[in-house]
Amino acid sequence: MELTNNARIILEKRYLKKENGVPVETPEEMFMRVARAVAGAEKIFNPSLTDVEIEEYTRRFYNLMTGWDFLPNSPTLMNAGRELGQLSACFVLPVEDSMEAIFTAVKDAALIHKSGGGTGFSFSRLRPKNSPVRSTGGIASGPVSFMKVFNAATEAIKQGGTRRGANMGILRVDHPDILEFIRCKENNNELTNFNISVGLTKEFMEAVARDEEYELKFAGKVYGKLKARQVFEEIVDHAWANGEPGIIFLDRLNEGNPTPELGEIEATNPCGEQPLLPYEACNLGSVNLANMVSGGGVDWDKLAETVYWSVRFLDNVIEINEFPLEKIKTMVMGNRKIGLGVMGWADMLFRLRIPYDTEEAVELGRRVMAFIQKEARQASRKLAAERGSFPNIDKSIYRGQKLRNATCTTIAPTGTISMIAGTSSGIEPVFALAYTKNVLDGESLIEVDPVFRAYIEENFAPEKANLIFQQIAAGKSVREIEEIPPDIRRVFTTALEIAPEWHIRMQAAFQEGTDNAVSKTVNFPSSATKEDVRRVYELAYKLGCKGVTVYRSGSREQEVLISGTQN
Ligand code: CDP
Repeated sequence: MELTNNARIILEKRYLKKENGVPVETPEEMFMRVARAVAGAEKIFNPSLTDVEIEEYTRRFYNLMTGWDFLPNSPTLMNAGRELGQLSACFVLPVEDSMEAIFTAVKDAALIHKSGGGTGFSFSRLRPKNSPVRSTGGIASGPVSFMKVFNAATEAIKQGGTRRGANMGILRVDHPDILEFIRCKENNNELTNFNISVGLTKEFMEAVARDEEYELKFAGKVYGKLKARQVFEEIVDHAWANGEPGIIFLDRLNEGNPTPELGEIEATNPCGEQPLLPYEACNLGSVNLANMVSGGGVDWDKLAETVYWSVRFLDNVIEINEFPLEKIKTMVMGNRKIGLGVMGWADMLFRLRIPYDTEEAVELGRRVMAFIQKEARQASRKLAAERGSFPNIDKSIYRGQKLRNATCTTIAPTGTISMIAGTSSGIEPVFALAYTKNVLDGESLIEVDPVFRAYIEENFAPEKANLIFQQIAAGKSVREIEEIPPDIRRVFTTALEIAPEWHIRMQAAFQEGTDNAVSKTVNFPSSATKEDVRRVYELAYKLGCKGVTVYRSGSREQEVLISGTQN
C-alpha cells in the first residue's frame, strides 16, 4: 500500500486505533479492520456463507480501499470494527419550537459530534425574536440566539471527540428574523462551529426576478414585507465579505426528495451536499477518478466495477452501523440512503490533459457522473433482488420498483479522505500545484500534485524539476514557466485561475447525475466584486444547482489554505 507522508500523519493523528495516545494498529491493519467489519454484513444477509467466502469479500473491500479506488467517509474508517461503531458523516436533527425540544436537539447533536458525525438543522420552526412566551410571560430570543447555544455545546465537546464537530444552520428566507440571520457571521469569531445557509424559495426567487416584495411569515401569521432584491443583495454582500451565508434552493431539494410522504426536506448536513429528513443520516463514500484512467481515456469498465463494489460496501455499512439514537436508526433503516460520489476529478482531467475550464471538461464531467448514477442504481437494484428493497419504498417515488437505497449518489467535499488517497478533493480544481509545508522541526517540505509531479519528472532533469517545484511552491503560476509547452501549461490550471462561471458549470454538470447534492466552493480572487458573486448565484439557480458556496481569497483572517504556502 502506498501512502504519502501527509496521509501517514493524518492517519496517525486521527484514524488509527490508539491506546494511551499511541497507535496500536498500522494503516494496513486499519483498512483490514474496516474491510472485515463491512464484509461481516454479508453474513447477516446470507448466514449460509462460509468463512472462506466472507474472507473473499474482506479481501475485495480491502483492495478497493488500499488500491485507492474508493474510500468511505471518515467515521467509517475511524469507527468500523470498533466499540463506537458509528459510521455516518451526516445527520439532520429537527429543532421544534419548545425549550425541551431545543435542548434535546443540543444533546443529540453532542452525541453525534462525539462519534465524528456532523449535524444540520433548520431553525425555521423557532418563533421569531421578541415573540411572546406563554408559560413565562416573557419574550422569545429567536433562532440566532439559540444557534449560539448549539455553537457553545459543539465548542465544549471539541476536545473529547474524534474530530471537530461541524454544524449547518439553515433559515428560510421568509422567516421574520432573516436579516439577523444573514448578518450573524459578520464577525468571523461568531458561530465558528457553524456553516450557515439561507433557504431560498421559488416564490422568493420569482420576487427577485420581478423586483417585488415578499412576505415574512411564521406559523401562518404575516410579520411584514421586504423587497426581495434588497434581501438578495444583503446575502450577496455578506457572502462576498467572508463567504457566509451560502444559499440552498429549498424547492429543488424537495423536488429531489424520494420520500415526500415521510416529510419535507428543510436542511442539509454541514457541507451542504446531503439533504436529509429530520433524524435521517447518510453514509458517504467516494470513487477516486484519478485511478479510473487507462490508455489516455476513461476506464469505463473499471469505473463500473468500482461503483458496484462501492454501493455494496455502503449498503453493508448501514447494516453494521451503531446509531446514536433509536429514532435515527428507524429512519436510516427505512430509507437506506447512501451517497456515493467522486474525488480526484481534477487529477483525472490532468491525466487526460483536458483543462478544467473547457466545454470538453464539463461535458466529460456530465458523462462520468451520469454513468456513475446509472451504475449505482443498477447495483442498488441488484442488491434489492438479493436483500429486498428499502422498507419505505411504497411511500417513495420508486413505488412498484425494486431499489435497495432511496438515494445512491452525493458528491462530498472529501476534505480528508482525498488527502489519505493522495488525490485532489471532490470535483474541485487543484488549489495549488505545489506548496511548502512547514514540518515540526523547522524544516519545510514541498508537497506537489502527484500528476503534475509525474509529468515534470518525466520531462525534465531532476535539478530542473526541483527548481520548477520550488518556483511554484513560492507562488509562481505554471503559466509563467516557459519551458513547459503552452498546451500543458493550460492543462495544469488551478482554482483561482479558473473563472467562477466554470466552477458553477462544472457543479451543474455533476448535479445532473447526482441524487443528492454536490459540494463545491466557487473560488474568487480577492479582486472579485459583489456583482461577480451575484452573477454566480443567479447562474447556479439557472443551471439547476441545489445550492452554492462561494469564497473570495483573503476574505477571512485565517485561511485554511493559502496558495503557495500551508502551515
Ligand atoms: O473526507 P471526509 O470523509 O473526512 O469528509 P468530507 O467529505 O470533507 O465531509 C463530508 C461530511 O462529513 C460533511 O459534509 C459533514 O457532514 C461531515 N464532517 C464533519 O461533520 N466534521 C468535519 N470536521 C468534517 C466533515
